Amino acid sequence: LKHLLSIEGLPRAILNQILDTAESFTGVSEREVKKVPLLRGKTVCNIFFENSTRTRTTFEIAAKRLSADVLNLNVSTSSQSKGETILDTVDNLTAMHADMFVVRHSQSGAAHLIARHVAPHVHVVNAGDGRHAHPTQGLLDMFTIRRYKPDMHNLRVAIIGDVLHSRVARSEIHALTTLGVPEVRVIAPKTLLPQDVEKLGVQVYHDMRAGLKDVDVVMMLRLQNERMSGSLLPSAQEYFKCFGLTQEKLALAKPDAIVMHPGPMNRGVEIDSAVADGMQSVILPQVTYGIAVRMAVMSILAGSNDA
Ligand code: CP
Repeated sequence: LKHLLSIEGLPRAILNQILDTAESFTGVSEREVKKVPLLRGKTVCNIFFENSTRTRTTFEIAAKRLSADVLNLNVSTSSQSKGETILDTVDNLTAMHADMFVVRHSQSGAAHLIARHVAPHVHVVNAGDGRHAHPTQGLLDMFTIRRYKPDMHNLRVAIIGDVLHSRVARSEIHALTTLGVPEVRVIAPKTLLPQDVEKLGVQVYHDMRAGLKDVDVVMMLRLQNERMSGSLLPSAQEYFKCFGLTQEKLALAKPDAIVMHPGPMNRGVEIDSAVADGMQSVILPQVTYGIAVRMAVMSILAGSNDA
C-alpha cells in the first residue's frame, strides 16, 4: 500500500492488517499508545485545507509516536492566499524533504490529485476529501467496533443521518461490508441519501424507530450544513424530532448497543446530550483509537515498497 486514499476497493486482508497493526501499538491499558522508532528520520506534513480538531491532532500525535518529524502547514497563512497551486505547495514541501502528506480538502479527489503528482518515495493519506472518503475515520470506527463487538460477522449496524454529504458514511459502509458485517442499515430522510445508496449493499430505512430495532452498533452522522444548498437544509428542531438519537429511541436497539459519532457533534440536532455522554457512548474512545490506527496506516505506508 503506497497511499491511503479510500477504503473502497481495499481487500479485507489489508483492512485487517491495519487493524491488527493498530492493536500492536496499544499498551496494557486501553488508553496507552506506545512510542516506536518506525518513522525516525521521516517528515510527515499535515496540509488541511478544511478545519479539523480530531483528525489533524491525532495524525500529529500518531506521527510523533512513530518518532517522525511533523510539519503542520497553516493553510490560511500560507502562500495559497497569493495564488500558489496545491501541487506547487506540495512540490515545495517535498523540496523540504516531506516524506508523507496527510491531506484534507473540500474537493473530492484532492488527495488523489496529489498522489498522482508526488515523487515515487512520497506517500499520501487522505484525511477527508469533500463528500468522497475519510478512510482513517472509517478504519478507526472499525477498530472501535472490533474492541467492543469482536464478532464482526454477527452484527447489525445502523448509520443514521446525512449519508448524502458524508465522506465518513461512505468509508464506514465500504469498511463494514468488506469486513463481512452481515447487516448494515442506513436511516435517513430521502433527501439526505444518495440515489444509488442500495448499490452500496445497505438496507434503507426512513423511520428511525424501525431502523434501530435490535441493532448492535449505532453510528450517528452530523448534518453537513456546509455542503448543502438552502433547499436541503432541514430545521434543527424538525431534524432532531425525526432523526435525533434520544434515550427513548436508543432503547429500541439491543440493550448492550454502542453509540458512535465521528465528531464534531451537534448536540440537540443529531444526538441528545444524555446519549452522547451516556453509558452506551464510545465517542471519546473512538478519538483515542484514532491515534493507534493512524500510526498503523503511516507505518504500513512508510514500509511499503510498492511501485
Ligand atoms: N471526525 C473528524 O474528521 O473530525 P475533525 O473534523 O475534527 O477532524
